[in-house]
Amino acid sequence: MSNYHIKHLEEYYQVYRKSVRNPEVFWEEIAEEHFLWRKKWNNVLSWDFSKPEVKWFEGAKLNITENCIDRHLYTRGDKTAIIFEPNDPKEKAEHISYKQLHEKVCKFSNVLKAQGVKKGDRVCIYLPMIPELAISVLACARIGAIHSVVFAGFSSTALATRINDCDCKMVITSDGSYRGAKTIDLKGIVDDALEECPGVETVLVAKRIKSDIKMKEGRDKWLQPLLDKADNVCVPEIMDAEDPLFILYTSGSTGKPKGMVHTTAGYMVYTAYTFKNVFQYKEEDVYWCTADIGWITGHSYIVYGPLANGATTVMFEGVPSYPDYGRFWDIVEKHKINQFYTAPTAIRALAKEGVGHVEAHDLSSLKVLGTVGEPINEEAWHWYDDNIGKKKSPIVDTWWQTETGGIMITPIPFATPTKPTYATLPFPGIQPALMDENGKEIKGNQVDGRLCIKFPWPSMARTIWGNHQRYRDTYFTAFENKYFTGDGALRDEVGYYRITGRVDDVIIVSGHNLGTAPIEDAINEHPAVAESAIVGFPHDVKGNALYGYVILKDTGESRNQDNLRKEINQIITEQIGPIAKLDKIQFTNGLPKTRSGKIMRRILRKIAHKDTSNLGDTSTLLNPEVVQDIMDNAL
Ligand code: WTA
Repeated sequence: MSNYHIKHLEEYYQVYRKSVRNPEVFWEEIAEEHFLWRKKWNNVLSWDFSKPEVKWFEGAKLNITENCIDRHLYTRGDKTAIIFEPNDPKEKAEHISYKQLHEKVCKFSNVLKAQGVKKGDRVCIYLPMIPELAISVLACARIGAIHSVVFAGFSSTALATRINDCDCKMVITSDGSYRGAKTIDLKGIVDDALEECPGVETVLVAKRIKSDIKMKEGRDKWLQPLLDKADNVCVPEIMDAEDPLFILYTSGSTGKPKGMVHTTAGYMVYTAYTFKNVFQYKEEDVYWCTADIGWITGHSYIVYGPLANGATTVMFEGVPSYPDYGRFWDIVEKHKINQFYTAPTAIRALAKEGVGHVEAHDLSSLKVLGTVGEPINEEAWHWYDDNIGKKKSPIVDTWWQTETGGIMITPIPFATPTKPTYATLPFPGIQPALMDENGKEIKGNQVDGRLCIKFPWPSMARTIWGNHQRYRDTYFTAFENKYFTGDGALRDEVGYYRITGRVDDVIIVSGHNLGTAPIEDAINEHPAVAESAIVGFPHDVKGNALYGYVILKDTGESRNQDNLRKEINQIITEQIGPIAKLDKIQFTNGLPKTRSGKIMRRILRKIAHKDTSNLGDTSTLLNPEVVQDIMDNAL
């Protein structure tokens, strides 16, 4: 019997030990007991990190949508699978049952087939967070087409690059999208992109806004009339365990985006098993992840992981600030959300607005809170714990990556005692290692190093689309026989992990390795500070010195900037030591951010280096306008 559902700490350790001592038996039991297979595997795992080549459940046959939809029809056909919460709170939420989802996915699958999409073809999905997004993802999976979802906030240039990189023959989009008070002309962006994409034969257009748009004869087709005519039965394509399920692009610090390829069986098993345990999902719960399906978090923990468990998962179309900063809490109250999963950047933005919006809502349904995407600073962690969870809902600080497919280091709520800023313990099956600069593993506790994983797990990406060599070079050459995450981490006295940030964010000052995250944490503790980012800049004596960009809270009162600078450095000195004091502190109204909310340090670094002749690609920034402002006021 597998321990599919871990309930206390002792059980976690038991399960973890088993998963490391005998990984094949461990994963085989989980796969066997909790999923629907058309044919079982011949071999649980074969792997060689030097190539790298990893295969899970080889020989098995399945379709992931049978696992996410069909098998629930008998037991929970009328249960809500997806709750769609529209951008405008005045528009009614939509509840889609498993039965309805089945019908919608089958019809969509038949439309895809009628348009000539076949197993193995790539389909680009560029849609806002409307039901058609989840449905089209599942429809591709049902017929064996490989979906490549591109976040609908990306520009036409970014979209074109992604369409061409994997030769998509179809794009699925909508006539437009709502984001807060704004209406966005998505179809216009697609039209611009397609000027550069000769391989695209068909564009399916879902209707979301009521506007007249240009449709290109022979290429563009309204989706709804095709769905209306489509048959509501679609026999799923039977896939091999290692057939690609999807491609998802992630940007590196240099070069073009990497199309991470995820395959079918291992991804399904791992996302389902992590979802169940990390969120302690119970049959009647309503789960909400605020991410966009355009990111890996949405793929794994809005669509596949929850649906594989027969869960009710919420899709929110809008933004946390519309119509006001109480929107998240309004939705929690309205749908009685039990598990809430969001990003530190959202938590900080909401914390900045004070607790008034929070107190106006009943949040008593909440049981588990999650965060993902970047290190969560201590202040934000406590704000989340105190005001949202009321100190009763454990916070799962989940560390993982697009490349890992699923959550890797995380507390198991109600089992693992949490600790602010610590992602805590590896999930069963995950074998982390900390490495020093010479490529040696650092054993023992109270150490820090570069975070690697030394044994395969089922949902790891198998390659970069069209460039296996780059996959090898990026992840498997820095440390022999290990997957290198690119992150630094420390392990405390009880073996808990704290992610200290990307290794390229480490700054060496006077020979000391300083991670940016703990210094930013210290700065953010100053009561006047809303957010900060630090980078290194060349210094005659120290090698590097630290440059801080600081956003102040909007309190209406004017502050003496020199005093503030002294106070900030005082806190850093107290928390980390004088070595980490900032040489320059620039106050600013904004920080350049990627659309997933990460600070683009590359740009800040260039400004600090006074090297602004070529800032590189800023097209993926959420707020390109802040860059000029920061340059104008640089110190
Ligand atoms: C960072 C998101 C600290 C990390 C699922 C990683 C985190 C990168 C955490 C992957 C966390 C993600 N604590 N850092 N809980 N979660 N990160 O591919 O640097 O968008 O390598 O995947 O985000 O980002 P990605």
